[in-house]
Amino acid sequence: MSTTEQRVAIVTGGARGIGAATAVRLAAEGRAVAVIDLDEAACKDTVEKITAAGGKALAVGADVSDEAQVEAAITRIVAELGAPTILVNNAGVLRDNLLFKMSVADWDTVLGVHLRGSFLMTKAVQKHMVDAGFGRIVNLSSSSALGNRGQANYSAAKAGLQGFTKTLAIELGKFGITANAVAPGFIATDMTAATAARVGMGFDDFKAAAATQIPVQRVGEPDDIANAVAFFTNEAAGFVSGQVLYVAGGPLN
Ligand SMILES: NC(=O)c1ccc[n+]([C@@H]2O[C@H](COP(=O)([O-])OP(=O)(O)OC[C@H]3O[C@@H](n4cnc5c(N)ncnc54)[C@H](O)[C@@H]3O)[C@@H](O)[C@H]2O)c1
Repeated sequence: MSTTEQRVAIVTGGARGIGAATAVRLAAEGRAVAVIDLDEAACKDTVEKITAAGGKALAVGADVSDEAQVEAAITRIVAELGAPTILVNNAGVLRDNLLFKMSVADWDTVLGVHLRGSFLMTKAVQKHMVDAGFGRIVNLSSSSALGNRGQANYSAAKAGLQGFTKTLAIELGKFGITANAVAPGFIATDMTAATAARVGMGFDDFKAAAATQIPVQRVGEPDDIANAVAFFTNEAAGFVSGQVLYVAGGPLN
């Protein structure tokens, strides 16, 4: 591609929260952004925000854990935006429960969206990156990868994504492709609001309680994560690969 051509980025789970902020941020950096979420109509707000600011974006409905839907989504993105060379695997769900109460369905759903979904998306997109001799893959891990009560499924998926990321970095590096993981701590989104509701707390009280445990004394915002993703997807970050960056207002590892 010529240096003036716009790179195409894909952000999964881009309808809201961290994915929406990331899509907007990547568009502001000049990327054409495919916003994938379960429901195409739900991507409208993110796409409108990007186009209102003069950017280019496409709403795509797909379940990232479904192979056929992923293939169809990538075919459409290639046709309507161009070959994607930036991929942010952000789509996620929670099905929290203590191990003895966790259903097999809740295990499978969480592993399916985070791990299978990231695998299917990356497999479908990597050939375009190889063809371009350039690629940036960012997987959303979590501080829960280090272990978190009530999240056996989620912590296993988020730790799994770290191993997945490092293997991608090793296999794909020779094609100009980097793979990194961003592991957020507490970020104020619908996901953490749902957790507050589940434990019977108001979201403001829940955030205030979390902030007391965080060295910078605040919870994170989606833009805090979008900023880290923007760094990893930058052309200048080509020598940074296979890393896990905890973005949590303090040290974790
Ligand atoms: N919020 C946090 O504190 C936090 C912390 C660590 C990691 N994360 C991770 O960051 C990512 C984004 O989290 P968020 O807080 O913005 O969550 P969110 O629930 O606000 O948004 C997640 C989005 O993913 C979409 N999605 C879910 N399943 C999908 C599927 N199968 N196919 C396509 N889209 C799907 C949802 O519809 C939703 O729009 C997730 O991977 C999450 O695990 C979040």
